[in-house]
Amino acid sequence: MTSNQAEITTPLQKLADKRFEQAGIEVWVKRDDLNHPLIQGNKWHKLRLNLQQAEQQGQSQLLTFGGAYSNHIAATAAACYERGWPSIGFIRGDELATNHQAWSPTLKQAQRHGMQFEFLDRPSYRLRHHQAWLDHLQQRFPNAYLLPEGGSNELAVAGFESVIKQLNQQCKGWTDLFCAVGTGGSLAGLAKYASINQTIWGVASLKNADYLKPQIQNWIGSSKQNWRLLTEFHGGGYAKSNSEIVLKTKQFESQFQIPLDPIYTAKLIFAFNTLLETNHFKSGQKIILYHSGGLQGCAD
Ligand SMILES: Cc1ncc(COP(=O)(O)O)c(C=O)c1O
Repeated sequence: MTSNQAEITTPLQKLADKRFEQAGIEVWVKRDDLNHPLIQGNKWHKLRLNLQQAEQQGQSQLLTFGGAYSNHIAATAAACYERGWPSIGFIRGDELATNHQAWSPTLKQAQRHGMQFEFLDRPSYRLRHHQAWLDHLQQRFPNAYLLPEGGSNELAVAGFESVIKQLNQQCKGWTDLFCAVGTGGSLAGLAKYASINQTIWGVASLKNADYLKPQIQNWIGSSKQNWRLLTEFHGGGYAKSNSEIVLKTKQFESQFQIPLDPIYTAKLIFAFNTLLETNHFKSGQKIILYHSGGLQGCAD
């Protein structure tokens, strides 16, 4: 990925299922998992304008934050590797410093792409929101462009304008879009550029995610209310799951031959299925399931 790399149009794949016919709805998957092998899905959109900004500011190193399963960590490392830039990841969990056995495929991949890690205990990791600590890091790494956890900031949000443009061209009259939520940056970006007649449904992959709402509205930058956050489909919490989610994932993957990641898109499909089974949808709805990638985290 170079900062001025042309945007590729990913497929919008229509799903055929008798249950959709019975409900009178049409359903597609936006295959943004196919936009890049390593900087996949929403990550591509969130990083693109940030990389441009770093370049314009003469910074050629990225420093960011994440948990052991953060696809953002893997994507940042890969984007820097492609450009020959160093990258630094501040990772939650000081136990990982000595226990390499516990490293996720995501961390291993980021390391292969040259990311240097600093492992933090939980209280220190909370400092990532404190400006004084961020200023201190900036002094320690003067050439680094600091990206928040999950890569979510205003430039990341702006990166989704092109996704909405593609969707409006690919599917006239779509009414609803479902996306997975970690920090809410992608949901904010999709809602910001969608019209008020299009509803963006975010499916939180973590527990008690209501606290994200003010930040999401803030990123949208207006009082636009074309979005909802669904907080009851996390399956036990971030990076956790349950037998129902695992079953729905397997069914979806074998029915449509579309791979899902267990942390984000599996919960998105679980939420969509639950709403379908409880007759939540109205005839005439044209629904898009946004595949945000994350598949690189599934391989070791
Ligand atoms: C595959 C995938 N989908 C969705 C998300 C959630 O994105 P956001 O943090 O913008 O809510 C992430 C976040 O890391 C992700 O990796």
